[in-house]
Amino acid sequence: MEVVLLPTPTDCGRVVADALQAGLARARVRGAPAVLGLATGSSPLLAYRELVRRHAEEGLSFADVEAFLLDEYVGLPAGHPESYREVIRRELTDAVGIDPARVHGPDGAAPDPLAAALAYEERLQAAGPVVVQLLGIGTNGHVGFNEPGSSLSSRTRVKTLTEQTRADNARFFADDVDAVPRHVLTQGLGTILRAEHLVLVATGEQKAAPVAAALEGPLTASVPGSVLQLHPHVTVVVDEAAGSRLALADHHRHALTHKPADQGW
Ligand code: F6R
Repeated sequence: MEVVLLPTPTDCGRVVADALQAGLARARVRGAPAVLGLATGSSPLLAYRELVRRHAEEGLSFADVEAFLLDEYVGLPAGHPESYREVIRRELTDAVGIDPARVHGPDGAAPDPLAAALAYEERLQAAGPVVVQLLGIGTNGHVGFNEPGSSLSSRTRVKTLTEQTRADNARFFADDVDAVPRHVLTQGLGTILRAEHLVLVATGEQKAAPVAAALEGPLTASVPGSVLQLHPHVTVVVDEAAGSRLALADHHRHALTHKPADQGW
């Protein structure tokens, strides 16, 4: 696991964009499908802004990209501005020219969410390996919407949000916690582990405790982010605030200073 501690959230966005771009390049060299796993929420926004800039100013192409979302709220009507399908369209995929038919998410408006979860898992596995899966982390250690207690080998399914997560996400719903759906469809932790490269980004003091628990605590369903410890290729990108409780912070800074020039992401 590589932990990249950087001064500012903008620096984090740049490195996350580098990692996504590197994953696309790797897939293209292999002739493999350019499948990206995308997260929503605040954490990836600066990386998305940087990718949009590279697309506009440097010609970075997403024409062959197939994008799969991590999760979706259950019960928001299609087109709701806070449904993750809409968020990703607004924040990234329209701006970089990914055909909407190539942007996939669990169908939170389906009459049968359980069947929608199974269908999504199958579609994701059929699309080929996700070359880079972007992740954020919740204040309670969740990744995707795998709340504490989630099986470490779970697949896409329906989960019930904790009240803490609903309160954290109320900011996207005009601070009305009652407007935040109770249920979600989320890739499982086992689903996430199948991606080739996991890139977790976290910024701000409120992420310091979950980042330390996930990276340096025991592997446990009580901290779903700790599942990253099982994966062979993980990059964790944090600003100084989110990395402030890492016992190994000095080593991570040292390793970054001495990162082999040809190591890449
Ligand atoms: C979003 C997702 C969640 C968020 C997490 C952090 O697709 O899967 O795990 O990454 O809740 O949210 P932010 O980034 O808003 O702090």
